[in-house]
Amino acid sequence: MNKENFHIKVSLTSNPYEIVIGENSLENIGDELYKIGFKEGLKVLVVSNQEVSNNYSDCIIKSLIKHKYNPKLLILKAGEEQKNQLSIDLIHDAAYEARLERGSLMIALGGGVIGDMTGFAAATWLRGIHVVQIPTTLLAMVDASIGGKTGINHTKGKNLIGAFHQPRLVLIDPKTLFTLPEREFKAGMSEVIKYGVISDLELFELLERQENISELSRIKEKLLVEIIKRSARSKAEIVVKDEKESGVRAFLNYGHTFGHVIENLCGYGKWLHGEAVAMGMVAVGELAVQRRLWREIDAKRQRQLIEKAGLPTKWPKLELESVLNSLKGDKKVKDGKVSFVMPLKIGDVKIFNDISNKEINECLQKLN
Ligand code: NAD
Ligand code: GLY
Repeated sequence: MNKENFHIKVSLTSNPYEIVIGENSLENIGDELYKIGFKEGLKVLVVSNQEVSNNYSDCIIKSLIKHKYNPKLLILKAGEEQKNQLSIDLIHDAAYEARLERGSLMIALGGGVIGDMTGFAAATWLRGIHVVQIPTTLLAMVDASIGGKTGINHTKGKNLIGAFHQPRLVLIDPKTLFTLPEREFKAGMSEVIKYGVISDLELFELLERQENISELSRIKEKLLVEIIKRSARSKAEIVVKDEKESGVRAFLNYGHTFGHVIENLCGYGKWLHGEAVAMGMVAVGELAVQRRLWREIDAKRQRQLIEKAGLPTKWPKLELESVLNSLKGDKKVKDGKVSFVMPLKIGDVKIFNDISNKEINECLQKLN
């Protein structure tokens, strides 16, 4: 792997920061924090879970101590079902125990669940303290860690409680993916495919040309880094254009409207977030074909790529009424209308909020 670090700027006017991608970047966390102005004696709460911490927290803690920072480690249980208020209370309890101050720092070491929760805990502790994201899943590297969306689930719906809170730094070491379960890797590939469809035809075609995109062991390191870089850059560009999602940032929700329905109705954790998004992209692709917005051939290309990534393309058995109810509870409902990000061609999408229940029913029938 290339030893050089890649830097991607997230040039937000009020909270600019960098995404640093590179081998051994975890061991250099102390240097990176020093470079962005954190001083000796800084109190740091590292939040992780057991699986991730077993592999990666030692080197981070060592690096922090070497730079005379003052770290504490909090281990939470793993899993989407832990993304709730109870976990936030645990992080806040640890913040209190560690006497974190306004200038202190939380580090999220893990996947999107740890990232979203730690970000939200940091956003709400003392009305907002610093947070650094160290994503260790593909999904978190290319999406969740970037852009400042933080939050937890409510019993009635996913990510309903949250805040925008930009990190001070995102540090990505692609080699952490080598300990990630294969199913989680595939789930992350779903968000990579999403970038292809919403804005990056070249990325889509690059993925199409590969023989294998479902098994990490069969993906060359150079390609892996390229995929992470391109995706992270796409995310950064969109966030810079529209930090608080009043416009183009909503494109990132491509596949998520139906995806959230699956997650809500099938139970958190049964379908991984990325798997639900993959199915959501297939579903909304079908809806777009039905409306003659998208060519059948492009829907087929998308489906084939999703299948090649080892992701689901078969809609689960769900009552139509439950699906419609769940759609109404989505965060993206405006004036009672559900928004759908629909593909127009590969690399271009548009938002529609005039989709009828009849159309949704017709589309879901076709997916069974
Ligand atoms: P996750 O955080 O649950 O991680 C998946 C599993 O992999 C966990 O069991 C974790 O312990 C394990 N794991 C993580 N890194 C590992 C590693 N390197 N080696 C071994 N095991 C490892 O799942 P995820 O897919 O990363 O994140 C999904 C969450 O992200 C969802 O809650 C979703 O809502 C959220 N999300 C947020 C945003 C955002 O913009 N904030 C964007 C997309 C998704
Ligand atoms: N994952 C969607 C967003 O960050 O806006």
